[in-house]
Formats: sequence, C-alpha cells, structure tokens
Amino acid sequence: MAAEDAPGSQFPSRRTAEHVAIIMDGNGRWATQRGWPRLVGHRRGAERVKQIVRACPDLGIRWITIYAFSTENWKRSTEEVLGLMGIFARYIEREADRLSAEGVRMRFIGDRTRLDVKLQRLMAGIEARTSANTRLNLTVAINYGGRDEITRAAQRIAAQVAGGTLQAAEVDGEVMARALDTADLPDPDLVIRTSGETRISNFLLWQSAYAEYEFTQTLWPDFTIEELASILDRVAVRDRRFGAVSA
Ligand code: IPE
Ligand code: IPE
Ligand code: MG
Repeated sequence: MAAEDAPGSQFPSRRTAEHVAIIMDGNGRWATQRGWPRLVGHRRGAERVKQIVRACPDLGIRWITIYAFSTENWKRSTEEVLGLMGIFARYIEREADRLSAEGVRMRFIGDRTRLDVKLQRLMAGIEARTSANTRLNLTVAINYGGRDEITRAAQRIAAQVAGGTLQAAEVDGEVMARALDTADLPDPDLVIRTSGETRISNFLLWQSAYAEYEFTQTLWPDFTIEELASILDRVAVRDRRFGAVSA
C-alpha cells in the first residue's frame, strides 16, 4: 500500500503484498534459446499473463500491474513492435469477457496517444466495461515510461498553475501522485523482474519508492504461479519500515 499509510499507523510488518507489479522480461531470450523468432516468446509471454492473473485473487493479490511495452521499446524493429501491439490487442479483445466475468477491473497506464486509434478505443471500452469490478485490479502499462509519466504530470500541474486553479506552493506529493497515470492505484508493495536483469527500466519510478524488489533468473514465459507464491512468502516476512524504526 501507499507509503503514506505507514507513519503512525498500525502497520503490520508481516503482510502479503496486495499490489504486485511485474516487469515481464525475457520473452525474446526464451524464444532465441529455442531457435524461434522473438514473437513466439511474446506470444508465450501473453499466455503466461493469463495464468498468473487468474491466480492472483487466491494469492491475496488485489492489484497487479504489468509492464507490457515501454516508451523505449519503440526502438525495436517494426516487425517486433507491430507484433507486440497485435498480441496486446488480441489479448485484451479475447480476454475482456472472461476477465470481466471474473470480477477483474482493467486499467491502462502510459501515453496512449501514440497508439493506434482503434486500439485506444478498445482500451477505453474495456476500462469502462470493467470499471465496477472489484475482485482484482489488473493494470497494463503500455507505451509506459516512469519519466514520461512524471513529465506529463508536471505539464498538467504547470497548466493548472498557469490557469490560476492551483498555487505553486500547493504542489506536494499528493498533488503529484494524483497527476500521475496511477492516480487511483495504491503504490506497489512488491516489484518483480524476471529474466535476471537487475534494473527497473523506467517502470513506476515515483510509485515504487518504497516497494520491495525481487529479481529472478526465470524468463517470463517460464514464470509459474508456484514461483510467484514463494516470492510472496519471502517478501511477507520483510520488515518494511518506510524510514521509521521497527516497533
Ligand atoms: C519482455 O521481453 C517483453 C517486452 C519488453 C515487450 P523482451 O522482449 O525484453 O525479452 P528479452 O529481454 O529480449 O529476452
Ligand atoms: C522492460 O524490459 C520493459 C518491459 C518489460 C515491457 P526491456 O527488455 O525493454 O528493458 P531493458 O532494455 O533490458 O532495460
Ligand atoms: Mg528485455
């Protein structure tokens, strides 16, 4: 939950991560190791998303945020970019009904203005359709970059100040948080990155200030519900102090 919840509150140090964010990495390597095109790995990765998302409620996860495409991923070949966009579009199109029936609320973060207009409509449609669901919150980061998000938030706030609806001195952490794409999400408790890379690659820079981090060598298409459960167990016993001193 949000770091602001911690100071002075009855914040138990042992608790299940309710908001898990995942940097799903390693699809390309998974395919290359088998002599297959990278897109085969991305397709497998999308299958894995379905299984992991389905398991979340039973694991006590109420919010899951997944990194599907970064603002830097446009640097890849046109074939890979178009392939990734196609896989994403099919995923949300085909999964929408099932997710909705299972009580999943879907949201998207990132700058969608650069996405195909049809895709943008699809995204807005599923967000609206699932907005009353509460069992699980699935957020997909697409054309998402933490720096880009913070920059867009700064522009929004600057426009409010220029328009006279906000004083510069009123800009604080709360105003910032509300101007981000994640305005209605709690901060992640845990960020997991697969594939052995130990960097955050521009993911949730503001929001994960006090998140726990877990890095696993497992490539995303091989990531299992069992591994997720064991990571959650490991993280649950950590003492999250948020800058304070343990009770
Ligand atoms: C993660 O897998 C998916 C995206 C970044 C879209 P990669 O495609 O980065 O896989 P590797 O890191 O090359 O193995
Ligand atoms: C991060 O993975 C982005 C996503 C998982 C969508 P990358 O594979 O793009 O990150 P780098 O290039 O290894 O830092
Ligand atoms: Mg990668």
